[in-house]
Amino acid sequence: MGFGRLAIFVAVAAFHYGSAAVVKRTVTCPTGQTTANEACCVLFPVIDLIQQELFDGGECGEEAHAALRLTFHDAIGFSKNGGLGGGADGSILAFNSTETQYAANEGIDDIIARQFPVFLKSGLSPGDFVHLAGNIGANNCPGTPQLPFSFGRPPPIAPAPDLTVPLPTDSVTDILARMADAGFSTPEVIWLLSSHSIAAADKIDPTIPRTPFDSTPGTYDTQFYLEVLLKGTLFPGNGSQSGEVLSPIAGEMRLQSDFAFSQDSRTACLWQEPINDQSFIQGKFVAAMTKLQVLGQTNLTDCSDVIPTPAPFTADIHFPASFDQNDVQVACTTTAFPSLATVSGPAPTIPPVPAP
Ligand code: HEM
Ligand SMILES: *[C@@H]1O[C@H](CO)[C@@H](O)[C@H](O)[C@H]1NC(C)=O
Ligand SMILES: *[C@@H]1O[C@H](CO)[C@@H](O)[C@H](O)[C@H]1NC(C)=O
Ligand SMILES: *[C@@H]1O[C@H](CO)[C@@H](O)[C@H](O)[C@H]1NC(C)=O
Repeated sequence: MGFGRLAIFVAVAAFHYGSAAVVKRTVTCPTGQTTANEACCVLFPVIDLIQQELFDGGECGEEAHAALRLTFHDAIGFSKNGGLGGGADGSILAFNSTETQYAANEGIDDIIARQFPVFLKSGLSPGDFVHLAGNIGANNCPGTPQLPFSFGRPPPIAPAPDLTVPLPTDSVTDILARMADAGFSTPEVIWLLSSHSIAAADKIDPTIPRTPFDSTPGTYDTQFYLEVLLKGTLFPGNGSQSGEVLSPIAGEMRLQSDFAFSQDSRTACLWQEPINDQSFIQGKFVAAMTKLQVLGQTNLTDCSDVIPTPAPFTADIHFPASFDQNDVQVACTTTAFPSLATVSGPAPTIPPVPAP
């Protein structure tokens, strides 16, 4: 892509911290953008391609959500002890006909079909494409911390086997065990689940596609952790489905596993901790995602500075209209629940995430 006329301008600036001199290099790419590492220049046109062809010019919509989910379902095909796949290797894209057959990957075929032609145009390896697209998609959502990107995953060798991806019907014990086998601590699991703040379900109840897990699926915030704790009273669609439990709000879906984590003595305080603490969850999510996206990978190049900066979210969160502290199923006994105001007006009905 026009790299014949590559001109590299290297600006060198020296910053002095005490006696140590830190030299920061900046390369100006053919596209005019800058990065610390020339090898990252190829990503700028790919990011534009992804934004235009996958995310409708940069939206936090259905495809962005699904692209983030895809990073998890790809990467978690991994075990510290080996034998469960190559981790964040793009096998879910390259070996899609195998991995989309797995029950936990239900619905993943849609985003695979959307990504595949864009992947072919990108020139990236499957792993780099899946994880770059996931980060760009997530970063389209206000409030997401700027997710870093490591570049240089080799092509995947084989599909991941079945049963590496947790199901919403799995117990807390089983999900924690599976995640620990991939290298994640219990707190990291709870922090990764902040992804469900920009998420919806298509397949749990197929009569109500794109039903979100919180009232603000277009914003990465801590509303999700709060709303999972509100007393459940209804099923948003055609009655009770496998993997879902009672939801507090019309139009909102609550996963059985999310609720179980919110109530289990091992995780209840971890679940409560992020509520209305945006900078806390941002820091924890970045760290856990960074780990997720390099599972099974070595010798990658840090290209984090090519990733666009997300719009901020800094407001306090609120109880949805008609809810207050009395509706919270408090399960953490050691920390006080944060004090939150209630949105005024009648109880809301949450609209589905717009169709792509
Ligand atoms: C650990 C246990 C987890 C379980 C049991 C679980 C389960 C689910 C289920 C059942 C859905 C709805 C699928 C559908 O019906 O369309 C979903 C959606 C989603 N999940 Fe998870 N998940 C887990 C962890 C994660 C993690 C770690 C991430 C990312 C880092 C993630 C990101 C997402 C996203 C973004 C969606 C929304 C996809 C969309 O809106 O199209 N999940 N998850
Ligand atoms: C799945 O991957 C194959 C190549 O392995 C590709 O030809 C096919 O188009 C992909 N399927 C979808 C739905 O994109
Ligand atoms: C709704 O649920 C009932 C009972 O589970 C089932 O028989 C029916 O087919 C469902 N309706 C639709 C539209 O899926
Ligand atoms: C690491 O990557 C660099 C640059 O891509 C390459 O030259 C080197 O051989 C790689 N080392 C290993 C151990 O793969």
